[in-house]
Amino acid sequence: MASDHETIVTMEATPVKFGTGASADAGWELKRLGIKRAMLVTDPGVAALGHPERIKKLIEAEGIDVVLYDRARVEPTIDSFQDAADFALEHEVDGFVSVGGGSSMDTAKVANLVSTHPAPVMDYVNPPIGDGKKPPSPIKPHVAIPTTSGTGSEATTVAVLDIPEMKVKTGISHRYLRATQAIVDPDLTRSLAPEVTSSTGLDVVCHAAESFLSKPFDHRPRPDSPDERPPYQGSNPIADVWSAKALEFGGRFLRRAVTDGDDVEARGYMMLGATMAGVGFGSAGVHIPHSCAYPIASVKHEYQPSGYPDDHPFVPHGHSVIVTAPAAFRFTYDAMPERHHQVAELLAGEPIADPGPDTLPEVLRALMQDVDAPRGVAEFGYAEDDIPTLVDGALKQQRLLAISPKEVGEDDLRHIITASMTNW
Ligand SMILES: [Fe+2]
Repeated sequence: MASDHETIVTMEATPVKFGTGASADAGWELKRLGIKRAMLVTDPGVAALGHPERIKKLIEAEGIDVVLYDRARVEPTIDSFQDAADFALEHEVDGFVSVGGGSSMDTAKVANLVSTHPAPVMDYVNPPIGDGKKPPSPIKPHVAIPTTSGTGSEATTVAVLDIPEMKVKTGISHRYLRATQAIVDPDLTRSLAPEVTSSTGLDVVCHAAESFLSKPFDHRPRPDSPDERPPYQGSNPIADVWSAKALEFGGRFLRRAVTDGDDVEARGYMMLGATMAGVGFGSAGVHIPHSCAYPIASVKHEYQPSGYPDDHPFVPHGHSVIVTAPAAFRFTYDAMPERHHQVAELLAGEPIADPGPDTLPEVLRALMQDVDAPRGVAEFGYAEDDIPTLVDGALKQQRLLAISPKEVGEDDLRHIITASMTNW
């Protein structure tokens, strides 16, 4: 019987250069990778902070041409990815550097993919929405320099995009999308608004918690070929190491990073935690809260978050994820009670006496309140009669729901989202 089950795990990670001032090495890293003409991808908000311009000069000082692309969309779409890919082709670049949050890094990944192996973006999008086409060979070098501490995109194989006309968020995922080198410099997050630190930090906590609480990799059937092994493998001893440490950092440092933007130690650990959680979920994967977050972010666009650019209403990713986490982990509790206790204790930073099904949800609610997270799904403009649409959207994320530790159907998602309308 054991022979029918998966027995193999894969560990892959982006090489990471971490520490205060590390972004000064950007030019050196691009030169080392043999890049002669780089496309620097950023978004207008990050560009306004000045980091991209400073990094561009550092790269040029190494004799490398840099073409600046500062139009990355905060919620990337097929069109915005295509625009970046066309720009890369037009300028005949041989490498990429991204400076920004998940959307800038993801835009660089897709511009790299599509300009290396030209095809309509939709061909590469995960099925059932796209064709799930696989790139035939590795793509160009990409140095990823995050300026927020959340997505962990510098460490993952995924690029996320919004398809507004289908009211769905989905992604492109392949191991070749992983950045060649990450440079993680806590100095770059100093200017972040507390709301941004709160949302991105709670995203880190969810990446780590969902990975740690995903279906164990050896509960999956053995694939017929290595090609069919899913990128999200389920919890495993390697991913656990990364996720557990990220949970510990989230519990210890997120409150401090939100309260005092200049707390360099807290910011540094949150940034390291984001990358470490990225390695963890890049291996194990995320499930229910992220599945629910996609429709929460894409069905209605009427929430205007404070602390973010006010050019278009949207739900910040981390906040869209965390709101269903307490109910989701209440639901998954009986699949692995002991591991739920472990997550609660890692976040709390101390042993918890007599833990039970509500322990982790309570620890999460306390953290959410302390970092001024939205109270629940209702705060984003949703009412009871929107719940069926949100459930439908979450059900489309079968690739993620497949690694929930407990089988999750339509009724379960309805209960989870209903319970998450307001968390306190
Ligand atoms: Fe996330």
